[in-house]
Amino acid sequence: MKSILPVLLILLLSSACSRFEVQGHRGARGMWPENTIPAFEYALEQKVDVIELDLGVSKDEKVVIYHDQRINPLICSGRPGAALMELTLAELKQIDCGGFKNPRFEEQVPVPGTKIPTLDEFFEWIKAHPNPWARRVRFNIETKSEPTEPTLSPPPARFAELLVGALRRHRMLNRSVVQSFDFRTLEEVRRLERNLELAALVEFRPEGAPQSLVAMAKQVGARILSPNHEWLVEADVKALQKAGIRVIPWTANSVDTFERLKQWGVDGIITDYPNRLQAFLKR
Ligand code: G3P
Ligand code: CA
Repeated sequence: MKSILPVLLILLLSSACSRFEVQGHRGARGMWPENTIPAFEYALEQKVDVIELDLGVSKDEKVVIYHDQRINPLICSGRPGAALMELTLAELKQIDCGGFKNPRFEEQVPVPGTKIPTLDEFFEWIKAHPNPWARRVRFNIETKSEPTEPTLSPPPARFAELLVGALRRHRMLNRSVVQSFDFRTLEEVRRLERNLELAALVEFRPEGAPQSLVAMAKQVGARILSPNHEWLVEADVKALQKAGIRVIPWTANSVDTFERLKQWGVDGIITDYPNRLQAFLKR
């Protein structure tokens, strides 16, 4: 019995790793204000495997969950266009990011008075949550940083320190993937935590794909590549998987797209509508 235990463990782990993942994009942006506790609450109710969220940093170096590097007046009221980096957490907390319905999402329900959460608040909320799924759900955490806009985010090494510090403090290293379009932040995260899972985000199909896609993931030590689903082709999926890289595209919202991606054998889908994806998978 003793000798088969390690084998069983490996089999269990590899089946857990290869399981198809439902990822709730910005929580569940199609239904609730993006990157807010109501959206994360809904994602939990939908039993997503992974909650996807974006990070920025305030003037006083607090890590906050927000997609844009400047306050977006389409979805938040107060301080339109101000950079996160020029506002303190106290100033960010005065902004309402739940009162406006995002016009791109018909079914989205506004929740007036909703504030931008910090990463610490998010983890405290999840740890105290009575839903048993809160103990199982994992996190896909994106560092929002652009090499061409150095004043809008901390230097990559500092961003990585702040994020890894929070993951260590909350004991969430094993439940998290760090993703980014800015590979500098992935490299810095890897320097601090060699075993932390990384996902390389790719917006446009690079020349030389699919091999260049494989090279991109390998260059940063990412075992996941998350491409824009709009240009992805089946040959990309196959080449990446053959190289041992999982493929989890964003942001797919229609049943037609779920169908196509699933047929190609992707390892998961990042969607604004985890409810739609769960219903599709059940059928
Ligand atoms: O997870 C990938 C996806 O979130 C990237 O796009 O702009 O929605 O952060 P964006
Ligand atoms: Ca994101």
